[in-house]
Amino acid sequence: MNCMMSVRGRVRRGIPARMALSLVVLSVSACGGGPAESAGPAPAVYTSSCSPCHDDGLGGAPMLGDQAEWERRIAKGINTVRRNAIDGFEGGTGIMPRMGGRPDLSADEISSIVDWMIAASQ
Ligand code: HEC
Repeated sequence: MNCMMSVRGRVRRGIPARMALSLVVLSVSACGGGPAESAGPAPAVYTSSCSPCHDDGLGGAPMLGDQAEWERRIAKGINTVRRNAIDGFEGGTGIMPRMGGRPDLSADEISSIVDWMIAASQ
């Protein structure tokens, strides 16, 4: 709200319409800040290997962006959640395949994708 009001104030002081519009765009992006912004762009491996299940919650996978669901899982401790993704996991909602079906990756790589998924779901 405050952001829009300050823009309106500036418009009244006589800034040309086209500039005012770009001010609105600027202030909206500065005041917004969705999950994708704080977490950065999706890692390529997430998009190719994890998103088929985790974007839409396929087969009981915790959905990217589902804050409550991820909070419930993080309550076990972040290391357990990472370990479950690495070793594979059946937690009652479905089957998480070992390393998300990418045994060619290192445990560190899987962990950093898990961290990104969590950051994108807060
Ligand atoms: C074939 C579908 C599928 C793919 C592909 C997949 N997952 Fe999952 N994932 C699941 C399901 C289903 C669960 C939920 C299991 C449960 O809690 O019963 C899950 C759970 C998880 C969890 C939560 C573990 C916990 O302790 O609660 C993490 C983290 C995770 N996946 C990471 C990944 C990563 C990283 C990838 C890609 C490298 C990936 N998944 C690929 C289906 C998938």
